[in-house]
Amino acid sequence: MSGPAPRRILLDCDPGHDDAMAILLAAASPAVEFVAITTVAGNQTLEKTTLNARRVCSVAGIDDVPIAAGCDRPLVREPMQADDIHGESGLDGVDWPEPTVGLDPRHAVDVIAEAAIEGDGPLTIVAVGPLTNVATALARHPGIRERIDRISIMGGAIGLGNWSPSAEFNIIEDPEAAAAVLASGLPITLVPLEVTHRALATPAVLARIEALRGPVSDMSVALMRFFAETYERVFGFAAPAVHDPCAVAAVIDPTLVTTRHVNVEVDLESTLSLGRTVCDIHGITGRAPNADVGVDLDVDRFWDLMVQALATYSVARPEVPTP
Ligand code: RIB
Ligand code: CA
Repeated sequence: MSGPAPRRILLDCDPGHDDAMAILLAAASPAVEFVAITTVAGNQTLEKTTLNARRVCSVAGIDDVPIAAGCDRPLVREPMQADDIHGESGLDGVDWPEPTVGLDPRHAVDVIAEAAIEGDGPLTIVAVGPLTNVATALARHPGIRERIDRISIMGGAIGLGNWSPSAEFNIIEDPEAAAAVLASGLPITLVPLEVTHRALATPAVLARIEALRGPVSDMSVALMRFFAETYERVFGFAAPAVHDPCAVAAVIDPTLVTTRHVNVEVDLESTLSLGRTVCDIHGITGRAPNADVGVDLDVDRFWDLMVQALATYSVARPEVPTP
């Protein structure tokens, strides 16, 4: 008996080293019908994040998923780039060949709307960059809300931020967009730093990926080694937190991420705490819950899923090494 139909997924991203791993996971999963990749300004400029999405898909041979560029700046505020983490290109660490995968001429906002309206079955949006494209699509095409079954967001933090002491990068880059998406009334999974800081690309994980061999294995290891160096230098981490595939994994297998259904608001007023996701974990405020907030990750099964996905690209297609 065949399993459930694959989930129609659109990945909105700002590649970004961890975004690259999210693309590879989504494209390899039999549980996913990968409808489109949309890019947004975030880790780097829109031009760079879009080129990076094309680069990753070209190396991986992902040539059947349209890539469309979206918003080149936040709704209201000035853009900020994360050069210190992802480098000047946004995907430093690999000597990239010219991409072979092209760019869809449509705007990402229109691709999001068309993917929601035109498909057989609902669309799940996985957003792993600033939420500018998603908020704009919901505002410009309100009718798509009934065609979106969930938005899985990598973003926010219950406690400490990573871009400011209070705020996580994807949220503070465009806090107005994040607030609008959280107020949309759509089912939302919020995968915060408390979860993604458990998805560490340790030397043991890299050894499993390296053993797969092939161009995607080589690309992934090179990207993670660059990411490891910046994460150690900036945050003192012994291994880099591979944030974005956690939001994809939460859709593929919701049992991987433990969540609490709570109210989440974005601080738009403060200076010190601007962009903070105020997660009412204990229900103190009485505000209506509006998101399923991740509080834990099944780390071993997450990496098994990630390595099994990467193994599908390997030229040699060896048995997936188990830890
Ligand atoms: O804070 C981590 C998030 O910001 C990740 O999505 C990373 O790619 C950056 O976009
Ligand atoms: Ca990202």
